[in-house]
Amino acid sequence: MNENTVKQTLLSAVKPTNIPTIGNYLGAIKNWVKMQNDYDCIFFAVDLHAITAKQEPQKLRERTLYVLASYVACGIDPNKTLIFVQSHVPEHTELAWILTCYSSMGELSRMTQYKDKVQKEGQNKEKENIQAGMFCYPLLMAADILLYQTNLVPVGEDQKQHIEITRDIAERLNNIYGKDLFTVPRALMPKVGARIMSLQNPSVKMSKSDDDPNGTVSLNDSNDEIIRKVKRAVTDSGNEITDDPSKPGVKNLLQIQSAILSKPIYALVQEYAGKQYGQLKSDTAELLVQSIEPIREKTNEILKNTTYLTALLKDGAEKARNRARKTIKRVHERIGFIAFSE
Ligand code: TRP
Repeated sequence: MNENTVKQTLLSAVKPTNIPTIGNYLGAIKNWVKMQNDYDCIFFAVDLHAITAKQEPQKLRERTLYVLASYVACGIDPNKTLIFVQSHVPEHTELAWILTCYSSMGELSRMTQYKDKVQKEGQNKEKENIQAGMFCYPLLMAADILLYQTNLVPVGEDQKQHIEITRDIAERLNNIYGKDLFTVPRALMPKVGARIMSLQNPSVKMSKSDDDPNGTVSLNDSNDEIIRKVKRAVTDSGNEITDDPSKPGVKNLLQIQSAILSKPIYALVQEYAGKQYGQLKSDTAELLVQSIEPIREKTNEILKNTTYLTALLKDGAEKARNRARKTIKRVHERIGFIAFSE
């Protein structure tokens, strides 16, 4: 990339509802590490989003710090990349409110995440009990993105609709207040396959909020836990190692290896010709231990170093606020708020 080219802004976030998993690492954070030189990167922990579901205060605090510390442990460099905690930057909530006034109940009701929640909670009667924060979730996410004039948002398939609504709202405000108000962002989808599935139910994505701890490998699992979980991974009654869609469990293990080794799946399939599932499992477990152990140890070191951690949080929040204020100021002017003189 030419040095004079202004780097595009790339932004993404992790919800601290639990300790991040190897799905978060292999499917997202590992790729973010590679993008740091080519983009102006912003990665944060979205604690305000986490409270759309019930959270235990102490756990929420620990997990939020864990997310940030593991970013650094995975190789995100705070000197190159902006990292911070969402609630430290009040401009997120500030812009979210403004966006609430430019979006409709209709478009928010059509969001699949909300619709799924309504369905899960039962029929219309139960809708009464769903938090309004759950309904407005996409607007806080849109604020996250638009505040920093983001060009690209690397997210999984499940977040695509959130980027769509962000684009719609940005264009809507730009049409009223001027095309230069917000950069209209684009979703950056990972290459097919960067999706790690549950070890117990390989037809669903590995999720840090899975109730079955055997389905996920967390970044703080011990080596023994990693090995145990991979050995128990659900496969099938066959014995051939291929990435055929009828073998989602086997495919998932190949996928994990492929993401760790940056090697195409077909090459792995060739190497495993004639080998047993047991071999595939023990190799996958060993590779996972090798890549997770240093991250786990580094994360723990960072978490123990409170001086470093406090400085990291403070510096990130300051830098983020400085950038976010610029957008807020412009939005206030265009909407017709009286300028606040400091
Ligand atoms: N909604 C995202 C998720 O559940 C988390 C998120 C919040 C996010 N704000 C964001 C992702 C901004 C990308 C950009 O995974």
